[in-house]
Order: sequence, then C-alpha cells, then structure tokens
Amino acid sequence: MRLRQITRMTAAPHVLRIFISPDRTLVIAGPGDITRETTDAIVNAANSSLMGGGGVDGAIHRAGGPAILEACIAIVDRQGRLAAGKAVATPAGRLLAKHVIHTVGPVWSGGERSEPGTLASCHTESIRVADELQLQTVAFPAISTGVYGYPVDLAANVAIASAADALAQAAHLREVRFVLFDRYSLEHFLNAAKTYAVNKSLRMDSCHAS
Ligand code: APR
Repeated sequence: MRLRQITRMTAAPHVLRIFISPDRTLVIAGPGDITRETTDAIVNAANSSLMGGGGVDGAIHRAGGPAILEACIAIVDRQGRLAAGKAVATPAGRLLAKHVIHTVGPVWSGGERSEPGTLASCHTESIRVADELQLQTVAFPAISTGVYGYPVDLAANVAIASAADALAQAAHLREVRFVLFDRYSLEHFLNAAKTYAVNKSLRMDSCHAS
C-alpha cells in the first residue's frame, strides 16, 4: 500500500480514450481522486449497509458531507440493504458531481463464487441507473479492488468489458470514465482497455498531462 501511495503522488496524469462509437467514449484516467470529478455522477464502492466506510466510500462521504448519508438512510429504510451487484443513486451534497451512484462489489474469495458476474453487474446496474437519470457522464473507481480483495488485473478486464458493453446500449450516457487512484491500478486498467479496443477494432488515443 505504501508503494501504491508513493507512485500515486509522483506519477504524471494519464488519459486513454476508447471510442466505442462516434458519440460514446470510454476514458481511463489516473492517478486521480474520484471525489474531484466533474462528471454528472460518480460511483461509490459501498457496502450493503450504505452507511459509509473506508477507502473510496469514506472519501466520498467526507467530501460530499451529510446529505449523502441522509439519502442512504432513507433508501435503506425504504428498501433494505443493497445486495451485491445492485446500484442506487443519491444526491452528491458538496461534490462537484450531481449524483452519487452507490454499488456493492463482490468480496473476492478465489473467483468461485460468481465474483466476475457480480462485478460486471455493478457496472451494468450503475450505468443503467445513470441512464435512467438521463445523465451524460459517469465516473467509476476500481470497485472491489481494495478492502474487498479482488485482484486488480482480473477486475480491470471485467470492469472495462461490462462498462463498454453497457455504454454502447445506453440511451443518454455519452462517457464512462474510470478514475484510478494509484499507478498500479492505472496500469492494469490501461492494459485491459487497450486489449478490449484491439479485440473490438476500436479507435483509441492516449496522452500524458503535464
Ligand atoms: N478516488 C478513486 N479511487 C479511490 C479513492 C479515491 N478518492 N480512494 C480509494 N480509491 C481506490 C482504492 O485504491 C481501490 O483501488 O478505490 C478502489 C476500491 O477500494 P475500496 O474503497 O477499498 O473499495 P472495495 O474494495 O470495493 O471495498 C468496499 O470498503 O470502504 C469500504 O464501505 C466500503 O465496505 C466497503 C468496502
């Protein structure tokens, strides 16, 4: 973790764009902090209680303030805990984004408990919720790859493929952005996205910001 933090602070920001269709783009960006994103929505790697936690969940609740937790409490009162692979939206409080879409990733236990399907569902469901809200842009962190222990290389392939497929089918959404917190996760998401683009014969471009 220490090495991951050091590389995050020293690495130059990197952006890769994959053109899914003339008006739909998948973006891989990092190292970066998703709480600073200006997309219409950001996705939170929550737990089923929706009561906040550490990692990106803690960062989003801290940056957004109490309005997010109040909305989460109302959702749990109304419909109970959020199952893994599902997604719900709340307002984003003080964040630059207008909405937070909370999803619950799978806890990695070796890959024999439908973890890839659940992780894919996190992306598909979050994009469905964003599209229902008629949003144009949404940003994802690397769901399940922290506390929940999903190996980043495996998670990246599932995340990219499921998000790209869902984006291609969305009615309103125009951009899905992955914001990776550290260089290690960024490299795996870049590799997964390039492989996806090559296999699907999609155009891509890449740049380093200064
Ligand atoms: N911006 C972008 N990514 C971030 C940020 C941030 N500000 N902070 C952390 N991350 C990254 C982590 O480095 C990791 O790559 O998000 C990824 C997901 O890690 P976790 O936040 O631990 O999420 P997850 O593995 O899905 O575990 C969820 O952790 O915080 C609790 O309540 C949460 O119980 C739930 C569990």
